[in-house]
Amino acid sequence: MYNFDEIISRRGMGSLKWDTVEEGVIPLWVADMDFPCLPELRQVLTRRAEHPFYGYRSPLESYYEAVRFWYKTRHGLETDRDHILAGPGTVLSLGIIVREFSVEGEGVLILTPVYTPFFEVIRENRRKVVEVSLNRDSGGRFVLDIAEIERELDRAGGGGIRTPLALFCSPHNPGGRVWNREETAAFLEMAKRRKMIVASDEIHCDFVYNREKENGGTSAFVSAASLEDYADRVITVSGANKTFNLGGLHVSHFVIRNSGLRRIIEAALYREAAHQGDVFAELAVETVYRLGAPWLDELCAYLKESIGEAVRFLNAEAPGIRAVEPEGTYLIWADARTLTERTDCRNTAELARRLEKEGKVKITPGSIYGRGGEDCIRINAASPHPLLMEGLERIAEWAALNSHR
Ligand SMILES: Cc1ncc(COP(=O)(O)O)c(C=O)c1O
Repeated sequence: MYNFDEIISRRGMGSLKWDTVEEGVIPLWVADMDFPCLPELRQVLTRRAEHPFYGYRSPLESYYEAVRFWYKTRHGLETDRDHILAGPGTVLSLGIIVREFSVEGEGVLILTPVYTPFFEVIRENRRKVVEVSLNRDSGGRFVLDIAEIERELDRAGGGGIRTPLALFCSPHNPGGRVWNREETAAFLEMAKRRKMIVASDEIHCDFVYNREKENGGTSAFVSAASLEDYADRVITVSGANKTFNLGGLHVSHFVIRNSGLRRIIEAALYREAAHQGDVFAELAVETVYRLGAPWLDELCAYLKESIGEAVRFLNAEAPGIRAVEPEGTYLIWADARTLTERTDCRNTAELARRLEKEGKVKITPGSIYGRGGEDCIRINAASPHPLLMEGLERIAEWAALNSHR
C-alpha cells in the first residue's frame, strides 16, 4: 500500500510546478504529479550515484528488454527489439520528427485543443500549423471528424500548403480522450490515403481508467504502432516520464516499425547528438518498467477515485464550470465559459490569472491549447486528494464570491 495522500513540500527544489508560483498558491497546472516516485527507484538511483563514474553512456540491452516487457505486460503489445529507439524526451523527439518529415513552409496537421508544444515544435521549425478543431459529443467528449480534417487539408492544399505530417495525441491532452481502435484506425486510414506520416505522442498511455476494453483485456489504450495496416507510416513517441513522474530526467523512446523511417530518426538523433542516453534516466526507465506495475495500479485506482470526486465536486459546487470525467490522463478538462462571463473576465487567460492572484490556485487556461479550447480550463488532478480538493474548493469559493447573475 502506497500513501498517495501524503503531502511533501517540493518548494525550493527548482520545481517548475511549485517554485514558479507564489507561496500560498496551490498549483494545479503543468502535468507533473505531486506523488513521490516509486520507492525502489530512489534506492536504485542512490546506489548508482555512489559509483563514481558518470561517463558517456550507451543503453544496455536490459533497457530495451524493460521497454518491451512494459508494452507486453501493460498493453498486450509485442514489440521488436529493433523497433525501439531511446529518445531525449517527447517534445524534443517531436521536433526531430517535424524537421525530418517536412520542410520549411509545409504544413503539419494537429487536432485542437492540444498540448501547446505541438504548436511550438511546428512554428519554431518554420512549418505551418494546419489546425482542425475536434468536435464534441453530447456528453462533452471530444470526437474526431475525419471529413472535416480532410476538408481542412484540402483548404490548406488549395492555399499551396502541402501537409506531409500529422501529430496525433493519444491519449489526448488536454481532452482526456483515450482514442479507441476504430477512431485511431480512421485517423491512420485518412493519413494513409493522403500519404502522410503520423507521429503519435502516447506519453499518457499508462493512465487509462477503463483498462478492460481493448487488447484482450490488458489495456484500453490502442497504440498507433499496434495497427498492422498502418505501421509503415507511424512513428510512436512515448516514455516512462509521465507515468512515473520523471519529467526532470528527460527520457523517452520511439517505436518505429518501418526500417526506412527508423533509419531517418536514428541518423537525426546522431546528428543532433541526442543518441547517447543519460546515466540516471535510462536506469530509471529500466527500474520503473521492471518494478513499477503494482505502484501504477494503485496510483491509477487512486486517481480514478480522486478524479471522479473532483469532477462531481466541480459540477455541483463550482458555479459556471462543467467538468468532464477523463477516460485517460490525470487532467480534468472543464468548460468555464459561464464562469468567465459571470466574473467579467475577457477570456480564460484572465480567469486563470485572477484565480491565481485572488483565489490562490493555479490552473491552465484552455486558450493555450488552440482553437476549441478558448472557453475551457485544464486542472491537473495528480495531487494528494486533500490538496486537490483544497484547490477545487478555492475555485468554487472564488467563483461564488465573484460571479454575478
Ligand atoms: C502530450 C504530451 N506530450 C509530451 C509531454 C512532455 O513530454 P516530455 O517531458 O518527454 O518532453 C507532455 C507533458 O505534459 C504531454 O502532455
